Amino acid sequence: MQPPPLEVSSFLSRCNVSLNQPLRRIAWITDPHFDHAKLDVWQSWVAKLLELDPDSILITGDLSEGDDVAYQLRCLAESLDRPIHFVLGNHDFYGKSIASTRRDLIALCRDVPQLTYLTDHPAMPLNASTVLIGDDGWGDATQGDYAGSNVRLNDFQLIEDFRTSDPDGWQSLLIAEGKAAAERLTDKLNNLSDEITQVLIATHVPPFREACWYEGKTTDDNWAPFFVCGQVGQALRKAAKQAPNRKHVVLCGHTHHDGIAQIADNLVVHTGFSRYGSLEIESMLTIEPDSLDLSRPAICFP
Ligand SMILES: [Fe+2]
Ligand SMILES: [Fe+2]
Repeated sequence: MQPPPLEVSSFLSRCNVSLNQPLRRIAWITDPHFDHAKLDVWQSWVAKLLELDPDSILITGDLSEGDDVAYQLRCLAESLDRPIHFVLGNHDFYGKSIASTRRDLIALCRDVPQLTYLTDHPAMPLNASTVLIGDDGWGDATQGDYAGSNVRLNDFQLIEDFRTSDPDGWQSLLIAEGKAAAERLTDKLNNLSDEITQVLIATHVPPFREACWYEGKTTDDNWAPFFVCGQVGQALRKAAKQAPNRKHVVLCGHTHHDGIAQIADNLVVHTGFSRYGSLEIESMLTIEPDSLDLSRPAICFP
């Protein structure tokens, strides 16, 4: 059985964060794929993060693969010693099942006070009017042409749920993952009070085709089923419509190509850049009670 989500108040006290000490500066990292980065690159990247001295780190998935994800998170917690909020990407599930990966990382977060797995966590206050929420998301086969696509991700060989099931059932597994992600995010959004006028949403997979960038263009029907979480997109569109006075800022990765998509007046998606073997600090976010700004371009190592 999956442990219940942690209470916000217990997290705040564990991490020594309170609304009197808001998280003002956040370093956003996406798709670091630490298993591809050499030690000297990792060391320079950590040194730069320490120099920038953010209040917290936010990682939008694809940290590494399998058990190495937990090892990398432990190293980060030890080296950076500040709150690290993360969601998982498809690579993080390689070599294991989706459920066992999540279970292991929930257990890790109970053990390492700096770590918070946002998928398993309610909204985190950043200041009196701003919260952070997150969910892994999944390329959920609801956008583009799944039946006609020739894309076959390594996910299908390397994640147990797919490897051990008939390919005819893959589409329903993808749809189910997207649906679960959308429902978890909807719950978190529905529970926000009217005082919350800004919500920062961390997820791995772009929730909209318009946010699914590749070399300056957005996705085609061949890639969209695996690179867009359409059901999360639908949930976010609905939430933004229901709360027109609340700003929704989404951070995601997965495509490794960056871009910004303005979906509605109060809903924007930033997709981050990544390259295997290098490590980036995608943006520094500055969060004030009435603004949420991202500084670009990304800082890259090497
Ligand atoms: Fe990635
Ligand atoms: Fe990914």
